[in-house]
Amino acid sequence: MNARALTPIDRLLIDAQNALDTVFGAPPAQRANPSAQEPDVVLDAAERRHAAGLMRINHVGEVCAQALYVGQAAVARDAATRAHLLEAAQEETDHLAWCAQRLDELDSRPSLLNPLWYAGSYAIGALAGLRGDGWNLGFVVETERQVEAHLDEHLQTLPVADARSRAILEVMKADEARHADDAQAQGARVLPPPVPRLMAMASNLMKTIAYRV
Ligand SMILES: [Fe+2]
Ligand SMILES: [Fe+2]
Repeated sequence: MNARALTPIDRLLIDAQNALDTVFGAPPAQRANPSAQEPDVVLDAAERRHAAGLMRINHVGEVCAQALYVGQAAVARDAATRAHLLEAAQEETDHLAWCAQRLDELDSRPSLLNPLWYAGSYAIGALAGLRGDGWNLGFVVETERQVEAHLDEHLQTLPVADARSRAILEVMKADEARHADDAQAQGARVLPPPVPRLMAMASNLMKTIAYRV
């Protein structure tokens, strides 16, 4: 069969499929879970609740990353930028799967508001993308740097005994730093104020809510 270019409708359907998989499905990871080698220490109830709250935030972060990148890719002008965004989204799928597995081990669950987080982030991604590809990549850099910073914060505040969550977050942090560097190398623009601050405010709001719900 001859390969043909995707029509806007094809793309819309692919995006809708990604949204459903991310929010309601359990997309499989391509790489092994970094926590597999770590002992599954039994945490006390308070520690488990705290660890689950943090891992739920990280899971939501990955839902948002998927949605942002897919939203940005939907309006990207340059094929190379689109490919870069979709490739970054693929690695985020590993993070998504690992966080979901850890939440399950902690007898917890992902955020009930994931459909909302996905929709909001997709819209933000598409809006950012409409400003042009330099902005698109600048948005990736800023997102990844902010995620990297909050992963650092979580690595400090996770219960000491929770080596399994920590192992996952260490690999995620290294991946996010690489995603930022790659986007930088592809010609990201520096986002003007107040965009980075608004993004930080939105992510703080998300963190406060996702820790609980
Ligand atoms: Fe990620
Ligand atoms: Fe990333």
